[in-house]
Amino acid sequence: MEENNNALDIFGGNDAMKETIMAHANELLDTMLDFKELMFYYTSAIREIRTKLEILDTEFELKYQRNPISSIQTRLKSKLSILEKLQRKGLEISTESVEKNLNDIAGVRVICSYVDDIYSIAEALIRQSDIELIEKKDYISNPKPNGYRSLHLIVSVPVYFAESTRRVKAEIQIRTIAMDFWASLEHQIKYKKQINDPQNIADQLKKCADIITYTDILMQNIRQQIDDQQPEKTELDKIYDKLKKFDVTIGE
Ligand code: GTP
Ligand code: MG
Repeated sequence: MEENNNALDIFGGNDAMKETIMAHANELLDTMLDFKELMFYYTSAIREIRTKLEILDTEFELKYQRNPISSIQTRLKSKLSILEKLQRKGLEISTESVEKNLNDIAGVRVICSYVDDIYSIAEALIRQSDIELIEKKDYISNPKPNGYRSLHLIVSVPVYFAESTRRVKAEIQIRTIAMDFWASLEHQIKYKKQINDPQNIADQLKKCADIITYTDILMQNIRQQIDDQQPEKTELDKIYDKLKKFDVTIGE
């Protein structure tokens, strides 16, 4: 029996048809690979930004024995969400269009302990010479009408490859643990299928947001009060402080 060398033989047809199929397959594969490559740029940007944030957090801990960052979450926008957003905004569906029009393919969420930590981290990051700030939305000083609060930065970072450098955009959301608690639950509730009295639910959520805003302010005040109450350090305290710095995990 003759060996079947051409996978396209299973479709039957003549050589011209096979050539057409091959051309389409090639084009499709190229598009998919372009997309894969673009997603690699975004994941690389996410890794860089995470490292920058971790370094700032460790530096702060070494200096002040306290971590301003409670946790960092990152995500690459899913293919479905990308498609859905392009369609919703009436934008062209192509890799070029994704790169040009969408700022939140690479997402980094920084959860801070206190409100003032948010601004310290944001400023320290923006000050870095390779980071370019494209847009800043301060939903803390100007919360959304529903009560949502966070500091949003759209930045671009250079990602260095063997033969090229690319500037890649990312969305960084910086918020306190309390703001994150509210936003996470509000996000879940928003997507429930059946809500009988949406205005009533919205009012209750806004009330929670107000309580949380108040709590954030109180917690920061408490920290400040305690800091202010600390007596002048003795020489022995200073030695203990220095010894404690040796226990800081510096990323090794
Ligand atoms: P998008 O087109 O949806 O990205 O909005 P935008 O370009 O106006 O950006 P915006 O800064 O308002 O929001 C971006 C992201 O912030 C969203 O994708 C959410 O992750 C978050 N966000 C904004 N508003 C809310 C809100 O009301 N509730 C929650 N839970 N998250 C929000
Ligand atoms: Mg978004």
